[in-house]
Amino acid sequence: MSLQSDLETPAVTVDIDIMEDNIRRVQAHLSAHGIANRPHIKTHKIPALGKLQMQAGAVGITCQKLGEVEVFADAGVADDVLLTFNILGAAKTERLMALSRRLKRLAVVLDNEAVAKGLSQAAVQHGGDVRFLIECDTGMGRNGVQTPQAALDLARSAIKLPHMQFEGLMTFPTRYPGSHAFFEEALALFKRAGIAVPVVSGGGTPAIFGVEQFPMLTEHRAGTYLFNDVMTVASGTATWDNCAMRVRATVVSRPTDTRAVIDCGTKVLTSDLYTVTGYGHVVEYPDAVIPHLSEEHGVIDLSKCAERPAVGDIVHVIPNHCCVVSNMVDEIVGVRGGRVEQVWTVAARGAVR
Ligand SMILES: Cc1ncc(COP(=O)(O)O)c(C=O)c1O
Repeated sequence: MSLQSDLETPAVTVDIDIMEDNIRRVQAHLSAHGIANRPHIKTHKIPALGKLQMQAGAVGITCQKLGEVEVFADAGVADDVLLTFNILGAAKTERLMALSRRLKRLAVVLDNEAVAKGLSQAAVQHGGDVRFLIECDTGMGRNGVQTPQAALDLARSAIKLPHMQFEGLMTFPTRYPGSHAFFEEALALFKRAGIAVPVVSGGGTPAIFGVEQFPMLTEHRAGTYLFNDVMTVASGTATWDNCAMRVRATVVSRPTDTRAVIDCGTKVLTSDLYTVTGYGHVVEYPDAVIPHLSEEHGVIDLSKCAERPAVGDIVHVIPNHCCVVSNMVDEIVGVRGGRVEQVWTVAARGAVR
């Protein structure tokens, strides 16, 4: 077994003790509130990690893309999968039908009639049923029907199409204040219409430790909690000690007294900023800021640091958004106690179709 200190940089590492603790804590919290855990595998794209989540008590997995479902089905990770994306076009609906023949349950979300019609046509053509949830926009401003009445109207018209089985409602992320009222109103409308809603699916790491405020949820989909990152720390959901993913990098230049440059840029750390300042948290120099990345260079501003690194020193950066970092590298290195314990191939890397 090799040492972490021997790893060539840049390397994306995951502290296995921290990751296992994240899996345990989140599973325990959701179980304590009677909410099924359906982790989103887009965070890691590694079947072995999906298996760990399943062994810990997850009921199934969430995937964002058909390609992810294919990789995870091949690896036998879970036989209950929710695909949270509108599936459109013959090539994709055909792949979906092929996958639903292989899995015990494959459900998919939709938010418009064109998608519902395409799915129904594929189900008629290829045989089998399509289980679907209506995606609701409860505040994010991305996909989703805009009102509870629109959810009912779409469910009603999709149910009438051949081979379409309505399973419930879904939103992302749950944390928006409007989610509670949206779901309550929608559930009342469905009840009055005599349509059962077996699944109410919420999502997002920042909402995990507040799920109790959403008693109507039957399941929760979180992804980032597995590794955590600057954004989950900024949201108050995690501490630096809960961050399992680090980018191990070498200081390759010290052009000025206050500037260091490391050997990774947007092609590892990504350019995701969202609401945070800088492109990552430097563990060894917590007062440092990464104000600028080019593709292969990371610029660190050391103005506020009493101690400063020398050329050749190693630093570890907690990335802003771990889910995108996983998709940037072929391998993620699992470390424990300073030793390399596992090297995982990111099997669903680039599976964006
Ligand atoms: C539809 C959906 N569900 C769940 C998640 C998981 O959210 P998080 O990574 O905050 O845990 C995402 C994240 O992008 C998502 O898009």
